[in-house]
Amino acid sequence: MEAIARGLEGVVVTETRLSHVDGERGELLIGGFPVEELAPHATFEEVLYLLWYGRLPDESERAALHRELAAQRALPVTCRALLRDAARHGSEPMDSLRMGVATLSLADPCPGDTSHAAQVHRAVGLVARFATLVAAHWRRIHNLEPVPPRADLGHVANYLYMLNGEEPAPAVVRALETYFNTVVDHGMNASTFTARVIASTESDMVSALVGAVGALKGPRHGGAPGPALDMVFEIRERAARSGRPLVEEADKRVREIVAGGGRLMGFGHRVYKVRDPRAEVLGAAAVRLFDGDADVALYNDALVVEDTVLHVLHELKPGRRIETNVEFYTALLLHGVGLDTALFTPTFAAARAGGWSAHVLEQFEENRLIRPASVYVGEHRHWMPGPERVAM
Ligand code: ACO
Repeated sequence: MEAIARGLEGVVVTETRLSHVDGERGELLIGGFPVEELAPHATFEEVLYLLWYGRLPDESERAALHRELAAQRALPVTCRALLRDAARHGSEPMDSLRMGVATLSLADPCPGDTSHAAQVHRAVGLVARFATLVAAHWRRIHNLEPVPPRADLGHVANYLYMLNGEEPAPAVVRALETYFNTVVDHGMNASTFTARVIASTESDMVSALVGAVGALKGPRHGGAPGPALDMVFEIRERAARSGRPLVEEADKRVREIVAGGGRLMGFGHRVYKVRDPRAEVLGAAAVRLFDGDADVALYNDALVVEDTVLHVLHELKPGRRIETNVEFYTALLLHGVGLDTALFTPTFAAARAGGWSAHVLEQFEENRLIRPASVYVGEHRHWMPGPERVAM
């Protein structure tokens, strides 16, 4: 029998110029740059340009992309009506995002145009509208009118503006922009692979990104940061109630989760066998952002919880090489930026849409249908009419 690569672990399906993940050395390159050099300094527009065009823009190219993004932020009428309905039904943000993205074909003036220029224009429109979609739904579920986008603001600043209705402080924008840049692309992760599989059938970019949103939603992929932060809060509360040290409560809770067959959210990774380098970048950004006592205290408590989780996991799961992944520090940073936990995964999607669209462009350029194989382990049967069937 052929060997089965369960979960496609270690299987190389394509070449890419977009990002490189070295799981043994804990290194990530985005468009050729180490993530720690690029993410804290670049604007999201610069990183998008890098992924879509293969190099950093000069000043006029950056300004042109800013204008193009700003011009495509508005949502089609059908999409706005859908968000109203989704909010009335109490739909989760990731479900609303998935449904909303599907309507974005209506914003495409020439869906049949598959030229490279048209595909890049499509990518710009999708990334622009992902942010508008998340913000509009968020306001709807809080009984607030969506805030129209502002063309003078950069992509990330405008996202915060559309969420909160006020212009964000530069330090907050920098922190969130560092996050967007850090998570924009990450090799052949599950959602990117999903997008590439859909693109490989010569389907369209909207379909590819709808599929990617669905894949990102799951807790084994992009759904982890909310629960990761909830765990830190829960352990803090337990310590406050019991009067016992945080480290003791953390140790107890982590053992309970593992004994119950659960997973510690924000830990473990298919590729990284050492600490996820994105955790470092986001941790540093969180430290720069946190100037209030409350947030610094939360950050320090989170470090205690992280240390305890790693200690206990190394003891209970020897040889598994489980380390902190991006989601643990995502949770801390996005909380510091003022985002609710329910916004963590949709915000991840808004950033990753840049990487997904770049992968779809790459797939279209060098396409071969992605079609793996499986080993059949079912029965071999012969058809019998109903009356002659014998119950087995
Ligand atoms: N908590 C407890 N045990 C874990 C964890 C964890 N976070 N991660 C892995 N393990 C254990 C598993 O229980 C398993 O142990 P066992 O063999 O004794 O049953 C072993 O490690 C291997 O687990 P797999 O699921 O086979 O490893 P995989 O490579 O598929 O794991 C994954 C990767 C899914 C991310 C996993 O580490 C996990 O579930 N982590 C928690 C969720 C999370 O943080 N997701 C975000 C990932 S980052 C991103 O996608 C952006």
